[in-house]
Amino acid sequence: MKLSAKAGILSLLSVFIYGTADSAVAKDVEKKAATKPVAKQSVEKKTNAKNSTDPWWKHAVIYEIYPRSFADADNNGMGDIKGITQKLDYLKDLGVDALWITPCFPSPQVDFGYDISDYCDIAPEYGTLADFDELVAEAKKRNIRIIMDLVMNHSSDKHKWFEESRSSRTNPKRNWFVWRDPKSGPLPKNSSGAEDPKSPPNNWQALFGHSAWQWDPKTNQYYYHFFYPEQPDLNWRNGQVKKAMNDVARFWLDRGVAGFRLDAINTLYEVPSLKDNPVKPGKNAYGDPNMDDKYNYLLLPEIKGTMRDLRKVLNNYQDNPVLLGETTAERIEQLIAAYGKNNDEIQLPMDFRFAYINKLSASEFRNKIAEIDENEVGGQPTYVFSNHDIVRHYNRYGDGKNNDQIAKLTAAILLTTRGTPVMYYGEELGMENRDPERKEDVKDPIGILGWPEQKGRDGCRTPMQWNAAKNAGFSTANPWLPVAHNYKTHNVELEDKDPASILSFYKQLLSVRKKNTALKYGKYVALNEDDEHVLSYLRKRGGAAALVACNMTDQPRKVTLDLSKSGITVSEAKVLMASYSAPDSISASSFTLPPYAVLIADVGKSAN
Ligand code: BGC
Repeated sequence: MKLSAKAGILSLLSVFIYGTADSAVAKDVEKKAATKPVAKQSVEKKTNAKNSTDPWWKHAVIYEIYPRSFADADNNGMGDIKGITQKLDYLKDLGVDALWITPCFPSPQVDFGYDISDYCDIAPEYGTLADFDELVAEAKKRNIRIIMDLVMNHSSDKHKWFEESRSSRTNPKRNWFVWRDPKSGPLPKNSSGAEDPKSPPNNWQALFGHSAWQWDPKTNQYYYHFFYPEQPDLNWRNGQVKKAMNDVARFWLDRGVAGFRLDAINTLYEVPSLKDNPVKPGKNAYGDPNMDDKYNYLLLPEIKGTMRDLRKVLNNYQDNPVLLGETTAERIEQLIAAYGKNNDEIQLPMDFRFAYINKLSASEFRNKIAEIDENEVGGQPTYVFSNHDIVRHYNRYGDGKNNDQIAKLTAAILLTTRGTPVMYYGEELGMENRDPERKEDVKDPIGILGWPEQKGRDGCRTPMQWNAAKNAGFSTANPWLPVAHNYKTHNVELEDKDPASILSFYKQLLSVRKKNTALKYGKYVALNEDDEHVLSYLRKRGGAAALVACNMTDQPRKVTLDLSKSGITVSEAKVLMASYSAPDSISASSFTLPPYAVLIADVGKSAN
């Protein structure tokens, strides 16, 4: 599938489902910080002697949690912070190193947390700052770090910054958001042929439907919103905004978080000229004309300076805090650019290209891996298959018959390629998507607006499947979304007991990945580059080498290898793990893989 200009959430939505501190801000941040003594993250020197300079995130696996759906400690049908804390032992046992928690800040919940009305607190429905501090502390005991979601592009229209901004044209915060007069000159005609006196400044459309400009009658101007009207865009050309957001980052870093996932980072800036976007033929799911959003959705150079400044904020903290970017890129060069020329911008720009392939093609995967693995700035690949905006990859890659086997195959690719993988809660179980069947059941507003073509994102946000009891053990109350249909067969309790389950496979992978030197530190070496059916590669470091072979087809496939070209002389490969019942050792030059099977074997010097 070709990437559209609006990759990441953007194409994912449309394709698959769819200066000086402002003293008031500074005071607000200080006041909140004072609710608890600052708990600076201490440096944890749990490093390998050979790689003592590697930051923790270089060998970490990040696990995304959608807090509303993960674990419900107070049994009100909605997940919460205490729920996450209660499940830390599960996450430790699974083997993940950091949790990225999607927004859990106070919010009117129009976009389920991505519309933030206070950046420096916890939403009451999810708990308190004290609950959050407890989560950080308990996670730390288990060597798990917490990454927060930083939504820099927009706030909620209920944030006091916006409420002040919209109160008058002369308010000191007016310029914190993007306000414009109606279009002047010849006005466009409305549907009844009359001129529209309040015509928006240009033809830009919001990603979530209709004009990106919202008329505000109080001050007779429009404000700009790339997403919902309830999510006004912050004006990043105003230095005070940057300062305020950096203060927000400090607030959470002071509380011990290990970094931030940067939301919708490509939309921070718009072209100052506000040029109309070119209109394309046809209409989208919201009934709007299709458009090439080339002037409001592009990687303007200003983003780079903003990222470097944010990195500097992080660099003042111990333990290498990390930036994990929602970096949507049309071209590989754009993704690589996100690291910064000196690798001084986003350490982990998420690579969504696995999420777009959607077919088991050895050559496509091989090409995508090579393109990013060989990036000239030495940036760390950050692969993603699923998240809270897209149909779960269990469904996208599954063929309806071999989904469990395919889920193991994709897990092996995610967790054995070189990089920092990002998992999505429940993928370790083979949780499936459950799209709403009726418009009246839809919770995600884009699903309501775009029904039935656009069903929204509810389907990938269903409750975590803890057991086979009612509501999958997520809550005794009716959950905010119904659980996915496969919870009776795909849940933690059941899969934990089954050595052949997807969960057991993930656990084994995560453990092998940690223990095996080649898988942990080794470079990636593609093998059999002309093989269209089997994706094979080595991870190699000095005398240590691991072989990974993935049969991407529904037929048995013979794999013939000449490892001598890579300096490997062993004749026998010692099987580390496999998704089928493989013998303990196999020939390192020839073996057959059953359909959709994966083999991971030691072919290092010590293997024979
Ligand atoms: C998030 C979405 C959200 C949007 C607006 C995206 O990047 O992943 O869930 O709706 O930003 O904040």
